[in-house]
Amino acid sequence: MNPFLYSRKDAYVLHKIGRNEPCWCGSGKKYKNCHLNFDSRLEGYLYQGALVPPHSIIKNQEQIEKIKESAKINIAVLDYVSEHIHAGVTTEEIDQWVYDVTTKMGGIPAPLNYEGFPKSVCTSINEVVCHGIPSKDRVLQDGDIINVDASTILNGYFSDSSRMFCIGDVSPEKKRLVEITKQSLQVGLEQVKPWGFLGDMGQAIHDFAKENGYSVVREIGGHGIGLEFHEDPWVSYVSKKGTEMMMVPGMIFTIEPMINMGKANVVVDEEDGWTVYTADGMPSAQWEIQVLITEDGYELISY
Ligand code: MF3
Ligand code: CO
Repeated sequence: MNPFLYSRKDAYVLHKIGRNEPCWCGSGKKYKNCHLNFDSRLEGYLYQGALVPPHSIIKNQEQIEKIKESAKINIAVLDYVSEHIHAGVTTEEIDQWVYDVTTKMGGIPAPLNYEGFPKSVCTSINEVVCHGIPSKDRVLQDGDIINVDASTILNGYFSDSSRMFCIGDVSPEKKRLVEITKQSLQVGLEQVKPWGFLGDMGQAIHDFAKENGYSVVREIGGHGIGLEFHEDPWVSYVSKKGTEMMMVPGMIFTIEPMINMGKANVVVDEEDGWTVYTADGMPSAQWEIQVLITEDGYELISY
């Protein structure tokens, strides 16, 4: 017996659950009426050498509904920010709005105390790539571009999305960066379908950014999400078609490319340990959406 093949096969429960036993997904349905065909298909791809997702990141209908409830708060938070953000507001005020809207709707801001993060939201301005910490000392200025990245926990279920905002009179160069980065999500989404690969989406986004004269951050990416803030898979936007994890129904992950006007290199603030800057000091933009892979495509969960 080839021990490698044996161990791969052993990773799957296809041959361990009886057809009439309850499915592993927790739906309560019999295996034969639930994920049996799914597992056969997954196993086929596994033997072809594909990186297929573990069962632990496949969501059932009930979990999907709960994650969508969480996402409603996340969307409401960003809608609120979009209606109130303007020059003269501090990023600390934005943090307060996020905290207030989230908690009034029964949620908890996921960033707050996450691995020591001190605030409820990330606010990343101009050359800040991501993980900017809100501060009473940072007043939004005419011409700034800012990413507001909100994440919510509701009843233990997670959602995560971010948007860019142009403050007042923004230069055409920065406006274009914001716009192309937004469009890159659509370009990526065209590759998002069950039984395709995350790399199909990653390469599409990378190619699109490069065609437009920009670079894509390599070190920081997206992630699975739902039962945890950050689950497998890690999602790259500089990956190659036909590589990385296979996308299958029930997977939920974020698409959140960070696109730089200059070089792709980034540096982390040594003092706060969080703020990520472009190494060359040029502007960076990011939009983030959360998607569910369905039987025939995808569903946008939060934006
Ligand atoms: N919202 C970020 C993401 O998209 C994570 C931020 S972690 C924090 O994955 F601690 F900085 F909030
Ligand atoms: Co995210």
